[in-house]
Amino acid sequence: MSKHNEINLSPFTGFSKLTFKERLSKLKFFAGLSADELEALAGDAKGLTIHHAEHLIENVIGVFSLPLGVATHFKIDGRDVLIPMAVEETSIIAAVSGAAKWVRKNGGFKTKSLGNLIIGQVQFPSLQNTAMFRKKIEENTDDLIAKANAVIPNLVLRGGGVVGIQVREISRPDGKTMGVLHILCNPCNAMGANLINQVCEAMKIPLEKLTGEKIGLCILSNLVDTKLCEATCEIEDITPELGKAIEQATMFANLDPYRCATHNKGVMNGIDPILIATGNDWRAVEAGIHAYIAMNGKYHSITDWKYTDGKLKGVLTAPLAVGTVGGVTQIHPTAKACIKILGVEHADELARICAATGLAQNLAALKALCTVGIVEGHMKLHAANLALAAGAIKHEIHIVQEKLKKEKRITLTRAKELLLQIRQESSQAVSV
Ligand code: HMG
Repeated sequence: MSKHNEINLSPFTGFSKLTFKERLSKLKFFAGLSADELEALAGDAKGLTIHHAEHLIENVIGVFSLPLGVATHFKIDGRDVLIPMAVEETSIIAAVSGAAKWVRKNGGFKTKSLGNLIIGQVQFPSLQNTAMFRKKIEENTDDLIAKANAVIPNLVLRGGGVVGIQVREISRPDGKTMGVLHILCNPCNAMGANLINQVCEAMKIPLEKLTGEKIGLCILSNLVDTKLCEATCEIEDITPELGKAIEQATMFANLDPYRCATHNKGVMNGIDPILIATGNDWRAVEAGIHAYIAMNGKYHSITDWKYTDGKLKGVLTAPLAVGTVGGVTQIHPTAKACIKILGVEHADELARICAATGLAQNLAALKALCTVGIVEGHMKLHAANLALAAGAIKHEIHIVQEKLKKEKRITLTRAKELLLQIRQESSQAVSV
């Protein structure tokens, strides 16, 4: 037994065995949710209404539901965290919870932020005088920062705002030079897309006047390598065979983009559902992470696992621009309740939880792939989906699921055959 085992008993052991009602009552107690917040989770009248939807997007015809679950057993930086995940895919929540339980026994996840700035880009498609352009920007940086901050006075009052401007020169294929300014901004607890876009657009006229150069695009960058997050864990109770196999699985991802896409998809299985549950922009995070890991010209694994000194050490470093205010986070009632369940106020904490969950999901998948294979855990849980898709109802779902698992032929066709067989058997039994 690991030395951490006794002090780190999870308050959520056996959560998956509870009924839906029992789960909600445990959740209510843990997160201090009100009756309205509990109802918002069920997505009924207190969830996202057509009224909300009409204000969020265009041409509304309805609202779309996804299952919402919680991942259990996470100890992150010494705190018990219950993690809401909105996702349609079977076994993700079981997998991250199982991995979190294992990591918890070994001391839990450690996380840190490696930056708090987002990037706005102002493009000068073709510079006439590169040296003069750079000189004018560098000589007037303080004045430009003041002008930028005048656009976002409330953010500045909250302790954020624009803190720097970087000049970049990009060589074009035709031999000319493109100029790009990076406007660096601390968005506090917002994801900051709307804020930085407004700043960039407001800077267009002053920048053109100052430099005498023509501006093209003014828009944020989703590649926020200025806002990285790191999650790590160390596992002692692991055999050398499994530790080395997981290390070699990462090596496989780093050597082969075909494997790497699947490996990183597994990591995103842990991250995207939290972004969805909390009303965050998961497309922005996906785009940013994939760009970040391809930045050096070679697509590689977003996680790194090494087996050394009898320990498996995992690390995930990723750009994670998320918000706990702004956007939909405080408009969508279910997202608000999910942020409360997480017990986070600061965007930085939410980002670090996403990083730890991505690492946990990767660990679960690699452990399964290096031992029993993915079918054992994932497909067995998926059997219930197939039973439903085959048309099974009530008690039939469980019977079809169990038969599929027993036979290890987990396909929709087989589920349909089994359902037919069960119904024929029960009608024969009735007629006898
Ligand atoms: P197990 O060892 O049989 O689990 O693993 P267990 O019964 O010993 O339970 C351990 C803990 O797992 C439980 O603790 C739960 O937290 C959780 P408890 O709360 O009971 O004290 N757990 C569950 N939670 C909710 N509902 C359940 C449930 N079962 C276990 N039904 C498990 C079973 C499925 C966890 C394991 O086989 C596993 O992790 N498999 C991997 C599955 C996976 O990774 N799925 C994600 C989608 S596939 C994917 O990521 C894409 C991929 O292509 C990525 C890649 O290639 O890298 C694979």
